[in-house]
Amino acid sequence: TTIRLEVARYRPGEDDAPAFQPYDVPLMADWAVLDGLNYVKDHLDGSLTYRWSCRMGVCGSCGMNVNGEPRLTCGTFLSEFGGGPVRIEPLKGFPVIKDLVVDIDDFLAKLSSVRPWLVREGEELPLSTEYAQTPAQLEAYKQYSMCINCLLCYSACPVYVLDPDFLGPAAIALAQRYNLDSRDMDDRFDVLNQDEAVWGCTFVGECTKVCPKHVDPAEAIQRYKLTAAMRSVLPWSRR
Ligand code: FES
Repeated sequence: TTIRLEVARYRPGEDDAPAFQPYDVPLMADWAVLDGLNYVKDHLDGSLTYRWSCRMGVCGSCGMNVNGEPRLTCGTFLSEFGGGPVRIEPLKGFPVIKDLVVDIDDFLAKLSSVRPWLVREGEELPLSTEYAQTPAQLEAYKQYSMCINCLLCYSACPVYVLDPDFLGPAAIALAQRYNLDSRDMDDRFDVLNQDEAVWGCTFVGECTKVCPKHVDPAEAIQRYKLTAAMRSVLPWSRR
């Protein structure tokens, strides 16, 4: 038994619209969409271009639009789609470099912009200094640390797709990963309290629905809105 994949191929110069190329691949019970693409690459068409690495939902590089929804292709089984066809496209909202590969430079710049490190102030301590945490302190931010930077939340976000300047779900969740860490002394108010940041979110919640790691960026954003509102009336409050 086979299943048909309809794969977007990038045709630069021809109004940049993708053309869909059909490939019939074996329909195996334990094959993910990524296995189907690897079959195409190995046996049918070596020119097909896409990203992947770990094959186990960890590296975050294999995100694509599968039948219109942003999914990790290594975690999406071909058998989900009955007799097919399965339409595979690059993630929406990002410039296409080739076939299924998108440009992630803007995304990486957004992650960097939230100061994704532990900020300490007024200290000169030896590098060996330890900052112990209780399990409860770890729990406070652990959920937000599970992000694998797969871009699915951006691709699903109607605000980001219309306004590429929107800071976006993963970057705000990343900021909260540090804001809520007991070892951190920043609250990233300058970056997050902006129309293009938390106040741009309309709480559609698609980011949370598609997140394969249950990070819940929508909750992270609403939570920071409360923090920002409190900080406006009580300037000394944080978090
Ligand atoms: Fe690494 Fe899919 S290949 S997350």
